[in-house]
Amino acid sequence: MSDNWIRACASVDIDEEDLIRFDHGDKTFCIYNTPKGFYATDGMCTHEEEHLEFGIVIGTVIECPLHQGRFDIPSGEALSAPVCVDLKTYPVKVEDGDVFINVEGN
Ligand code: FES
Repeated sequence: MSDNWIRACASVDIDEEDLIRFDHGDKTFCIYNTPKGFYATDGMCTHEEEHLEFGIVIGTVIECPLHQGRFDIPSGEALSAPVCVDLKTYPVKVEDGDVFINVEGN
């Protein structure tokens, strides 16, 4: 296993269609449990300085809690105003019930 893979949580720690915040070093992430699997993105919205940890997961979309901008979780693509800059995404894998994130990104 590469050193860039960090255990973030147990898979059961994230409810279906929900997310958790995960901080590592000076970075902050969101890790999602979606109907299509587990994913990770940067934790901060690209619009303003708002963490997405209290956002709403709708299928594979995350809606920011501050101005309701939406991103596609698997790709990080900005989907609706006011967000226009994509979210950075990170590889995730689940092994033996644990969720790992590759903090170096895609
Ligand atoms: S801070 Fe996220 S949409 Fe404005």
